[in-house]
Amino acid sequence: MFMAISLLPFFSTQALLLLILLFSSTYVTSQAPPASNFSCPVDSPTTCSTYFTYLAQPPNFLDLGNISDLFGVSRKEIATASNLESEDTPLFPNQLLLVPKPCGCTGNRSFANITYQIQQGESFYLVSTTSFENLTRWQEVEALNPSLTPTLLHAGDKVIFPLFCKCPSNTHLESGIAYLITYVWQPSDDLTKVAAKLNASERNIVIENNYVNFTAAVYLPVLIPVSQLPVLSQ
Ligand SMILES: *[C@@H]1O[C@H](CO)[C@@H](O)[C@H](O)[C@H]1NC(C)=O
Ligand SMILES: *[C@@H]1O[C@H](CO)[C@@H](O)[C@H](O)[C@H]1NC(C)=O
Ligand SMILES: *[C@@H]1O[C@H](CO)[C@@H](O)[C@H](O)[C@H]1NC(C)=O
Ligand SMILES: *[C@@H]1O[C@H](CO)[C@@H](O)[C@H](O)[C@H]1NC(C)=O
Ligand SMILES: *[C@@H]1O[C@H](CO)[C@@H](O)[C@H](O)[C@H]1NC(C)=O
Ligand SMILES: *[C@@H]1O[C@H](CO)[C@@H](O)[C@H](O)[C@H]1NC(C)=O
Ligand SMILES: *[C@@H]1O[C@H](CO)[C@@H](O)[C@H](O)[C@H]1NC(C)=O
Repeated sequence: MFMAISLLPFFSTQALLLLILLFSSTYVTSQAPPASNFSCPVDSPTTCSTYFTYLAQPPNFLDLGNISDLFGVSRKEIATASNLESEDTPLFPNQLLLVPKPCGCTGNRSFANITYQIQQGESFYLVSTTSFENLTRWQEVEALNPSLTPTLLHAGDKVIFPLFCKCPSNTHLESGIAYLITYVWQPSDDLTKVAAKLNASERNIVIENNYVNFTAAVYLPVLIPVSQLPVLSQ
């Protein structure tokens, strides 16, 4: 937008419109807002321990140590939450893991803040969609790091990546929901499969996300309510 505005006098209105259209469609179609309601519930504790699902992926995140560094969580904590035999169990591509991380409120929205050091050539968009597997969006990263200029990042810049999360409200707790797991919907998913993987009820998933058609949620974070931490079959 900054560029578009400063170049304003040099473009005809039509060219400018085209530019804005191109600019916004790249972003809007590539990172839509999350499917679930990640606002901070009024009747829940301000912080809680929560879990994120993460798919082990080459080239950099087939290694528990690398995933542990990314989230700032010990290997042991991830191994335990994910039902891995040990911290040294080799991972395979697309293996489902559970990463524990505290969740809290930032204004009226819930996030788990993760500090990440930018590497040469990386953008907020790239890190959000690759390393963090769409557990956050570039828009949220930009808003939370006002002192950084997104187009002028340098290797070593420390950036807070806010991952979408949510603490169970008193209403959840009273109805037996202990955790809301943040899960990014995958192209091959369907409701039955996701419910089985995370030992959740299909009905509770639908209610929590106010959703009928999850195809529209592909690559978006959704909330999976569970009464206890699922024992992943590894
Ligand atoms: C999202 O949840 C909050 C609190 O849980 C509630 O106040 C708000 O109305 C919800 N918004 C939508 C769009 O459902
Ligand atoms: C771990 O990360 C390093 C770079 O940070 C990379 O060279 C290495 O391949 C990664 N290992 C795995 C198994 O993903
Ligand atoms: C996340 O970081 C932002 C910016 O520093 C801060 O305002 C907010 O309180 C933090 N949120 C949590 C849950 O730690
Ligand atoms: C959260 O706060 C922002 C501005 O502070 C407001 O625009 C938005 O409507 C609020 N959302 C909810 C769900 O209360
Ligand atoms: C993240 O979402 C984008 C589309 O918004 C998709 O192209 C990309 O493959 C997703 N990343 C992962 C790791 O699934
Ligand atoms: C579900 O949403 C997808 C993508 O938004 C759409 O292509 C599909 O037709 C929808 N299915 C139903 C049954 O509405
Ligand atoms: C699935 O959840 C139920 C309670 O909702 C629990 O009794 C059962 O042990 C869980 N199974 C696994 C494999 O996590």
